[in-house]
Amino acid sequence: MTSTATSTAINVGLMGLGVVGTGVAATLLRENSPISDVAGRPVNLKKVLVRDLSRSRDIDLPSGFLTADPEDILSDPDIHIVVEVMGGTDPAKGYLKRALSAGKHVVTANKEVMAKSGPELLALARENGVNLLFEASVGGGIPIVGCLMNELAANEIRSIRSIINGTTNYILTRMANQGTNFQVALSEAQGLGYAEADPTNDIEGIDAGYKLTILASLAYRRRFKPEDVYLEGISKLEPQDFRYARELGYAIKSLAISSLDNGAVQLRVHPVMVPNEHMLAKVDGVYNAVEVDGSLCGQVLFHGMGAGREPTTSAVVGDVIEAARKMGGHPAGPHQGAAQNETSISVRPMGNLQTRYYIRLDVADRPGVLAQIAKALGDGQISIAEVLQKDTQPETESAELVITTHPAKEASVQMALEVIAGLPEVRRVSNTLRIEE
Ligand code: NAP
Ligand code: HSE
Repeated sequence: MTSTATSTAINVGLMGLGVVGTGVAATLLRENSPISDVAGRPVNLKKVLVRDLSRSRDIDLPSGFLTADPEDILSDPDIHIVVEVMGGTDPAKGYLKRALSAGKHVVTANKEVMAKSGPELLALARENGVNLLFEASVGGGIPIVGCLMNELAANEIRSIRSIINGTTNYILTRMANQGTNFQVALSEAQGLGYAEADPTNDIEGIDAGYKLTILASLAYRRRFKPEDVYLEGISKLEPQDFRYARELGYAIKSLAISSLDNGAVQLRVHPVMVPNEHMLAKVDGVYNAVEVDGSLCGQVLFHGMGAGREPTTSAVVGDVIEAARKMGGHPAGPHQGAAQNETSISVRPMGNLQTRYYIRLDVADRPGVLAQIAKALGDGQISIAEVLQKDTQPETESAELVITTHPAKEASVQMALEVIAGLPEVRRVSNTLRIEE
């Protein structure tokens, strides 16, 4: 593929040349690439926007391609498709609006913008008769966005249970299997190009929350907001939690879950104990997995690389091809993911969740302590399934108690934990995890 445009050629302006942008540029510039054949017309990379022109790059671009001026893309009538892989909301959202308003098709990997402003941008795309495609915003190389829009569209989606942050899953896997310290595992994930510019978004569940907002909006044809998602990160997990989980027959995973019940959907991202034999427990490293339970298809599991240069490039360039095909008069592809008539599905509060719990407490090793804790749980109608006393330390008269419960209501468990934390013999409520069966 050369950069010489023909009368029917499609020209691409790329915004961002970092982990993902470099992969996209290399793929679009590759000699003998099948992209133009599949797209039905030549697809040429024309301009690449970066912030810092002086920075050394992993790729040699033809001269004149690189620019630090967004107008070289946004105001060029010969650029037909804008690919945004800069990240963040500002200035990315403004550039996307400019591109759509100028009649350019847009491909983005930006889950933050799509989660916060997807409906507004999709409406703008519709008004201007162009496509806004965002397959890479969820699940890296896994084609889940297109599947929810098309192949699974006939289903009522009963639930989505997913591992959709590669950085978090990489860290949890390293901590569980090698006992690696949290910070070391995070630095490794950053070095491999998996983490967001601010890794807080990864480890506090914010990135997965954005992705769940996008998936749920597609699945339930309703505009969910990132604030609709209950979030808990992985930073409270300690080595003991992985040890005890293993003893109890579970793996610890951070799951992004949406579940539909009686016309209301609950959206949550938090660490979960998953039975070892469940397929999600076996998803390790940077791999992502999305389990969709649909009324017609039953349970379907998507599994693949959820972050990194090549998998994300696969999704971005796939969208470029789709946009080029549509411009070439090929049959229409997926709908735009912005249902015109929204459903009336509401958001179910987290306090209504009914599930099993794992509770780890640091307590004084004295007679009667367990009875007080059991009373607090009993008063909240929380039934104990198992109690293990671990790591007794005679010198400090302290012991670690691990309690698992039968299914209980989240609000009752949180109230009981407040009571337990206030007992003089309880030194610390060290951690609480929900158990997914
Ligand atoms: P990155 O490595 O940080 O690269 C960002 C690129 O955008 C850099 O080239 C940067 O320019 C450019 N840029 C940032 N702000 C700019 C501005 N104001 N003006 C001009 N250029 C600007 O990011 P990334 O990891 O490739 O991620 C890009 C997007 O893809 C994000 O939305 C991310 O969430 C999403 N994504 C990433 C992955 C992944 O595995 N990394 C996977 C799926 C989705 P300089 O090079 O000059 O600094
Ligand atoms: N930081 C994200 C992750 C990149 O770790 O999954 C892919 O969206």
